[in-house]
Amino acid sequence: MRAKPQDRAPPVTAAWAQVGVVATIAGPRACMTEGAVVDALATSRRGFVNFLLGSGVGAMLVSVLYPVVRFLIPPKSGEPTTANVTIPWKPTEIRVNAGRIFRFGSQPGLLIRTPAGELRAFSAVCTHLNCTVQYREGKQDIWCACHDGVYDLHGKNVSGPPPRPLEDYRVQVKGEQIVVSKRA
Ligand code: FES
Repeated sequence: MRAKPQDRAPPVTAAWAQVGVVATIAGPRACMTEGAVVDALATSRRGFVNFLLGSGVGAMLVSVLYPVVRFLIPPKSGEPTTANVTIPWKPTEIRVNAGRIFRFGSQPGLLIRTPAGELRAFSAVCTHLNCTVQYREGKQDIWCACHDGVYDLHGKNVSGPPPRPLEDYRVQVKGEQIVVSKRA
């Protein structure tokens, strides 16, 4: 005997639509079978594991790539807002072939007296990754210990990763004072 159209099982999509309607009205517990609950839990567990794996790989990539990008693309060093400073030492206190770090606004500066006796001053912020440079008496150069960057006594980058010279400042000796200022 042939089943009447109303006795036949609804098509699959129609059945799901009905489940959706029931679920919306009665809530998931009211219409979910035990199998459906297990399936839903397995799916959410899989999703959670996928999320953990995805975020772990993403975090690993960021932790590997970020230092490489920082190394290859040096940041621009922040501009000191100060235009000039009076150094807290007298000219006679700066030895020949020596250097001293001073504050130039919010940044360190480097004052050196060359082996020839001339006073020069530079920003002490390395143009690579902003470490503080220092004067090396033995080699008579300016050195950045972070990645072995070297500058000559004019602040020019001569070896290592620094991409540009140190900013050089004007030095004026006024009696017992040394005044260092930015160049116009
Ligand atoms: S910060 Fe890298 S050489 Fe100075």
